[in-house]
Amino acid sequence: MHKHIYSFNYPHNENDLCKFESRHLFHQEEKDKMLFSDIKIEPSSSAFIKKRIDVLLANPDYDKLIESIKEEKIRIEGFKLEYLQLEHDPTEYKDRLNKLRDIGHCIEGEPDYYNPTKLYALCWHEGLWYFGSLIKDDFDWHKHKQKPRSFSNSISMTIAKTLVNVASQGNKDKKLIDACCGVGTVVLEACFAGYDIEGCDINWKTCWHSRENLEHFGYSAEIHRSDIKDLDKIYDAGIIDLPYNLYAYSDDDITANIIESTAKITQRVVIVSTTDIESFIKNAGLKIVDTCSIKKIGKTDFTREIWVCEKSGS
Ligand SMILES: C[S@@+](CC[C@H](N)C(=O)[O-])C[C@H]1O[C@@H](n2cnc3c(N)ncnc32)[C@H](O)[C@@H]1O
Repeated sequence: MHKHIYSFNYPHNENDLCKFESRHLFHQEEKDKMLFSDIKIEPSSSAFIKKRIDVLLANPDYDKLIESIKEEKIRIEGFKLEYLQLEHDPTEYKDRLNKLRDIGHCIEGEPDYYNPTKLYALCWHEGLWYFGSLIKDDFDWHKHKQKPRSFSNSISMTIAKTLVNVASQGNKDKKLIDACCGVGTVVLEACFAGYDIEGCDINWKTCWHSRENLEHFGYSAEIHRSDIKDLDKIYDAGIIDLPYNLYAYSDDDITANIIESTAKITQRVVIVSTTDIESFIKNAGLKIVDTCSIKKIGKTDFTREIWVCEKSGS
């Protein structure tokens, strides 16, 4: 039995991005908007994970599950129970309500539907009933939409969260660097999720805006006003949202310098580009371990490519 059950939700066009993220967080792809794993990830650190059940009890026989919930002798004021209906669960609405009522009677204390102190959930999957604690994404990170400084054509918060998760592989002990941090879209999401991250940008004004954004939300992360080639610290993983010659000038020398310099100070690099940069990656002594394409439909349609790279031999 796995320790955690995750439920996902996202628009159809983010299917590949979600599966890409889950490959690096869970070493498996989310399927049918659910995933069972022993790895523990906070739902709010991903744009795709909506709920996590920390499994307390599981049984193929519903009546036996109820008996074991009673044996737990749970006493809590202000609890709330939810039914998490996963794909392929045929349980009808009325039956789901009855089951929640059954479990409610097994817990000692008054429920609170509006301001619960603790959430529990029941779900069914492939012949097993699961009961456990429920943890939900509270969408608090959506406050970052109101950051005081933004950048035309910045990556979305969804992509920023994915980059942090793919670079760190969900390990909060890893030290991260955003080599071209701009106004700090990635740094904000990393700070929100509790990662140790620093930012770097060659443009002093952009750095200033990045620091302003961080301060606005009460986060502290060092932002280096520097060409990434002059940074002499070592990090576990790097993130690069390359300048794509639209709002920040770029050419082949700039691209090569940024990728090679970041490769020197990290083991793993996650790069966002709008062009084919395979030869730059190889010249920097990196090997490509995964990729993902994201189509942006808007005033100017274009595709962003995310490249996950590791030092050759690592
Ligand atoms: C596409 S933007 C990054 C946007 C950022 N992800 C955000 O959300 O604001 C690329 C950034 O790379 C920076 N840059 C260009 N060359 C650099 C270098 N050699 N070292 C560090 N930053 C560099 C530019 O100033 C620009 O802010």
